[in-house]
Amino acid sequence: MRRIVFETSTTTFFGNRIRSCWGKNMWQDFRTWNDATYIGVRANFAYYFQPRAYFARRRMLQAFDKWVDCDIEEWSEEAPLWNEKWGCRMNWEREALARNFGFTHRGRACSQASFLFVQVSIIITNAAPMATWFILCIIQSDSRLRKFREVVQPLLLPPVKSNPNDLRFDMAKLKEHSYIRGLWNEALRLGSASAAARVVSKDTELEGYVLKRGSVVLLPVRLLHFDEEVFHEPEKFLPERWIYDLPQDATEEQRSLMVQKRQRQSANLRSFGGGTGLCSGRFVAEQEMLSTVSTMLMLFDIELVGDGALELNPRSIGIMSPAKEPRVRIRKRRNPRMI
Ligand code: HEM
Repeated sequence: MRRIVFETSTTTFFGNRIRSCWGKNMWQDFRTWNDATYIGVRANFAYYFQPRAYFARRRMLQAFDKWVDCDIEEWSEEAPLWNEKWGCRMNWEREALARNFGFTHRGRACSQASFLFVQVSIIITNAAPMATWFILCIIQSDSRLRKFREVVQPLLLPPVKSNPNDLRFDMAKLKEHSYIRGLWNEALRLGSASAAARVVSKDTELEGYVLKRGSVVLLPVRLLHFDEEVFHEPEKFLPERWIYDLPQDATEEQRSLMVQKRQRQSANLRSFGGGTGLCSGRFVAEQEMLSTVSTMLMLFDIELVGDGALELNPRSIGIMSPAKEPRVRIRKRRNPRMI
């Protein structure tokens, strides 16, 4: 599935030309390189230890060298958004800008390749593992799955053309629901191993530490997510920790403690990074994950096969994938619109 997603989105994004520039190993190269580019891989050195990833990356950049090696003409308004040569108009605009600003040939190739990474790896690196992980988090407990379906089922919208498999949800209500929020936040908290990076722009002293200009600072997401002072029993999957209900007669002190807890938990949940580089797709991600996972779990009974243990691969730059491909048994539910 990842291959299909990669190949269709790459050719949609860059037009079919990218396929002829890259060759038939396009997916294999991207995968080899992407798998090697996990946390901490911020220098060329890592690729010298992983020659396959080194050559895969080289072939990818050579493909983009060829892809940018062409004339740039006016965009025909007959097809305002996409054409065969450039794929999305945005690529043509980026190329024109880079040429105006005197980018080198290789600089332009890298700039285009980095957008392949942003666009495609969002799906391959984050969205697909997150959908898998989110489903696994829910199905690992029968009571959790039941509760999930109890919340989701009343939010189903009437079927289009009386097709019972056409499931659409009232997304606004789904996203607002406190239990669903708890599941989503908890899946993010336990499934992330990203490390947003920032380069220090001037010598700075921070809480007694000297940060030199040019140093790379990483945001330790996993440490934040497992901070025991913020998340009691951090290794446990507890959606309830994100539900901030108080009894009607709660005291001022209880209310203020609850506000503090909420603020600390939110500040510590950093799956989407923070500050100026904060993931601009986070709401899209949430919407697509909730609708995909709700659809899957209403349409199918999904069961983990084997000992049910699930290990995640910490070599990640976002959401971790399972260390070994999980084996699951999937059965179509007789009536997907019922609990
Ligand atoms: C579960 C899914 C996702 C996760 C965990 C995730 C995570 C991240 C992280 C950690 C960053 C770097 C943040 C930083 O440096 O502070 C980022 C950046 C970014 N993400 Fe996401 N992302 C996800 C889905 C998406 C989606 C679906 C889109 C687009 C529709 C998207 C678009 C972007 C963009 C454009 C940036 C760069 C933002 C910038 O530098 O201004 N992401 N994402």
